[in-house]
Amino acid sequence: MNTRFYFNIPKDRNNFYLAALGCLVVFFGIYLIFSVLFSSNDNDFDDDNVTILKHTHAFIHSAYYYQKSETLGDNAIALVMSINKLTAENILDMNIKLLATNETLDRFPVKASLTSEHRFNGSCEYVTVLAQANTIENMGRLEIQGGNRVIDKLLFKKPLETSPSKVVFCVAPQLGAENWQEFLRQVHVAKRYGAHLHIYVISMVEKYFRLMKEYESLGYISLEPWLTVKYSHVRERVDEPNKNIEILQRTSAFTDCILNYKEAAEFVGSIEMEDLLFPIGSTSYYEEFEKQYDGSYLYSALTYARQTLLIPQTAEDSISVSSLFETVLAGDVSSYGRSFVRTSNYNSTWLHWSRNSDLIPREIQGNVTYLQHKQVEGCRIFNFKKADIGNDTRTEVIMDDKILAEIEEELKSHLELPQIKKLMAHLPRNKLYSPIFERCFETLTSSVSPQETVCMDMYSCELPRREDVPCIHSDGLYSSMIPMRPITYHYSSEHFFSRNIGCNV
Ligand SMILES: *[C@@H]1O[C@H](CO)[C@@H](O)[C@H](O)[C@H]1NC(C)=O
Ligand SMILES: *[C@@H]1O[C@H](CO)[C@@H](O)[C@H](O)[C@H]1NC(C)=O
Ligand SMILES: *[C@@H]1O[C@H](CO)[C@@H](O)[C@H](O)[C@H]1NC(C)=O
Ligand SMILES: *[C@@H]1O[C@H](CO)[C@@H](O)[C@H](O)[C@H]1NC(C)=O
Ligand SMILES: *[C@@H]1O[C@H](CO)[C@@H](O)[C@H](O)[C@H]1NC(C)=O
Ligand SMILES: *[C@@H]1O[C@H](CO)[C@@H](O)[C@H](O)[C@H]1NC(C)=O
Repeated sequence: MNTRFYFNIPKDRNNFYLAALGCLVVFFGIYLIFSVLFSSNDNDFDDDNVTILKHTHAFIHSAYYYQKSETLGDNAIALVMSINKLTAENILDMNIKLLATNETLDRFPVKASLTSEHRFNGSCEYVTVLAQANTIENMGRLEIQGGNRVIDKLLFKKPLETSPSKVVFCVAPQLGAENWQEFLRQVHVAKRYGAHLHIYVISMVEKYFRLMKEYESLGYISLEPWLTVKYSHVRERVDEPNKNIEILQRTSAFTDCILNYKEAAEFVGSIEMEDLLFPIGSTSYYEEFEKQYDGSYLYSALTYARQTLLIPQTAEDSISVSSLFETVLAGDVSSYGRSFVRTSNYNSTWLHWSRNSDLIPREIQGNVTYLQHKQVEGCRIFNFKKADIGNDTRTEVIMDDKILAEIEEELKSHLELPQIKKLMAHLPRNKLYSPIFERCFETLTSSVSPQETVCMDMYSCELPRREDVPCIHSDGLYSSMIPMRPITYHYSSEHFFSRNIGCNV
């Protein structure tokens, strides 16, 4: 007797088939009831027309709730999401249906409007979309509504109330990062001119991470685990999202950074780790930016051109800031540089500046004018690239030797701190991942234009896994909401760093 069967197979085969059919009908019935209850026909938008669109997925990177905000209004919420552009393009003039709850109001309906900084003709499938709304006082719960029944809770956090500094530089997500020399130069230049670094990390070499942790405990930087997009549960087959999303997710990370510091910092800059900005003629970044804005209400952002400086092969691994300037060959200047913005003028950003902010009309003395980003003359962002320059050097770059020496002095004194000195011996001497990225990024940087970047997805640069070079990687508790139409939402509660993933995506 096989005890695995719950009922005996009837002797009469016809009865058996009938019973089997009966079971099938019952199961199908249950399936139907369930699929009606939790069906993908539940519309999370306020426009019925949207149901004609394809079913897509959105990953919520972050959600903020501002109890008080001068520029966003009271009880504002802002959600940073990545959505497939084919859907995103069609929904921008519609609203997401949300439900807000506080101690006196239960599930108060709120409509969130959507904006994107992307053009929808770029080559990455996913674009960053910002959802904004004003909700109720002392909101304790926020939910997404689909149809009349399906409701899912959203996690949100409060933006920072204070910042270590009036100027914050958001550093683009680090992936397979190992160039700790670059970090030391950046952190000490930023410190000299009064900027706090907020660094997004996808993955990096563990020893380098330990070094950053030391600087974090000194209060110079903040580390933010930045998660790759994952769908923990999907009903149908979907394309791997990271194959269709920009490799560093910079637009989402920079937008998140602006929203996080919106109430806390005066200026926020969006930079790469290797971008060094020397505010020539000013003692601090704050002074430099105020000087450049010159009280004008018509500038949305200051954009600084980015100049490549070619340095001898050997100089790149030097920690020294001043030695970088000793033998340089001035390279190309790209006017699509980096932006530094007044947080009050910006809600979101594209890679180089906010296209949306430039479209905001302002009325001044009866004339309607538009905000514009200002291309700063004079100061440039330096971006060092190693090259075979022989003895062909041109130090046309005007750098104040006294200031360089000061920065150098600070750097040296930090390297003498016992906890940092101990780490120095273990930092990687050879570059493992950078040459791979260099080749990959050549395509990316050469195609940077005001239109759009070429999509290099998260899988473009396959990194070798090395047991002897452990990496830390961002991770989280990924969750998926109930399937809805047109969008099913995914998010992560808790973000942390893990040693178990390696450097690859
Ligand atoms: C749906 O689309 C049609 C045609 O584009 C339009 O006439 C109609 O007003 C739309 N309905 C709603 C509710 O927006
Ligand atoms: C809940 O929100 C409503 C609308 O903003 C507000 O009038 C009410 O005071 C809030 N309740 C609490 C307990 O804050
Ligand atoms: C930022 O959001 C607020 C609130 O929705 C809006 O009034 C303002 O115009 C937005 N600013 C920009 C630059 O988009
Ligand atoms: C702006 O408005 C003022 C007064 O209304 C007018 O004198 C001036 O010519 C206008 N400026 C421009 C650029 O139109
Ligand atoms: C560069 O070096 C080569 C050989 O080392 C020498 O012949 C040449 O004169 C040098 N050029 C300059 C500009 O110093
Ligand atoms: C994308 O569209 C914009 C205008 O919306 C246009 O200026 C740009 O050239 C287009 N880019 C590509 C790659 O087609």
